[in-house]
Amino acid sequence: MSIGLADNTRPSQRRRGTERTEHRFDLSLSENPFPPLPSVLRAVNETLAQANRYPEFLPRRLPRLIAGHLGVEPDQVIVGAGATGVAMQIIQSLTGRGDEVVFGAPTFDGYPIMAGMAELETVPVPLDKAGNQDVWAMVRAINKRTGLVVVCRPHNPTGTVLGAAELKAFLCAVPARVPVILDEAYVEFLGAADHIDPLALLARHPNLLVLRSFSKAYGLAGLRIGYAFGRRELAARVRKLQLPFGVPAAAVAAVAASYAAQPELAARTLRITTERETLRNALRRCGIAVPRSHANFLYLPGPGVATALRRAGIAAKAYPDGSARIAVGDPAADTAVLQALESLR
Ligand SMILES: Cc1ncc(COP(=O)(O)O)c(C=O)c1O
Repeated sequence: MSIGLADNTRPSQRRRGTERTEHRFDLSLSENPFPPLPSVLRAVNETLAQANRYPEFLPRRLPRLIAGHLGVEPDQVIVGAGATGVAMQIIQSLTGRGDEVVFGAPTFDGYPIMAGMAELETVPVPLDKAGNQDVWAMVRAINKRTGLVVVCRPHNPTGTVLGAAELKAFLCAVPARVPVILDEAYVEFLGAADHIDPLALLARHPNLLVLRSFSKAYGLAGLRIGYAFGRRELAARVRKLQLPFGVPAAAVAAVAASYAAQPELAARTLRITTERETLRNALRRCGIAVPRSHANFLYLPGPGVATALRRAGIAAKAYPDGSARIAVGDPAADTAVLQALESLR
């Protein structure tokens, strides 16, 4: 089993599009540092030989594959261009212009951007001091204009995880007429003790859609594969906006090959989370109050952090107060981060 980063060139130094970034390391997008597994690459390559052919008109094979993996029915699954594409489809199918969307802030940039595209009013609810979503403030922000609520587990950018009991209480407190996206883009990085059975949640909450991604733990961000699953009735409303020919055959092959390679992917995930803990401990020893992360990134509270990283040639996601979020898992990049920040405090 190969879990080394090394088979390719240094992972965080690769090209974006055709231009090499000016940074030594690009940690700005919470990507997986590992290149695709050879078995996944082979499966994708085989489909490319048929790229003169259209894929399925409406996706059937991918929802069937994912549903089998999850233990739900295929008509409960909606697939699309990354979790982003599916979230946009949810917004377009379940909300109307002028509706309010409630989320913890800051959050994944996609939410405010997509809300703007759909002409929704955003209702950002500040995270608490420890970087957790303040779910009770989010409940208080819900009113009759609320068209959607988004809760992330783990949360981006802080990596914090909402407790199981708190999530359950929160879902019970959201009126059943308001759709809820439970964004689990990083769910595979959670420790076993933090796992929640999504099927038990769906049994109680007909307004719930669980959103997931192949971009993060599966390391396929460039292929754009995401999905949501929920109760059949709600999924059917979202599926009405399914883009014809929108899911390439390569996506189906990549997912099938990834499911067949779970032990290798789990080993990579473990490598990433182990690196994450090592780096977090080292940064905390330097006096940076990094919250415990349950994802493949760390949130480094500022001020001055984002600037110090940039000066060291490290691209990070920067926040207005000088804080930064960095993807973790590449030992060379993690060492560079530590060197860049050691002298800051
Ligand atoms: C919380 C969260 N949700 C969704 C996404 C979108 O992922 P995808 O690449 O599947 O569109 C991201 C990407 O960073 C994310 O952080």
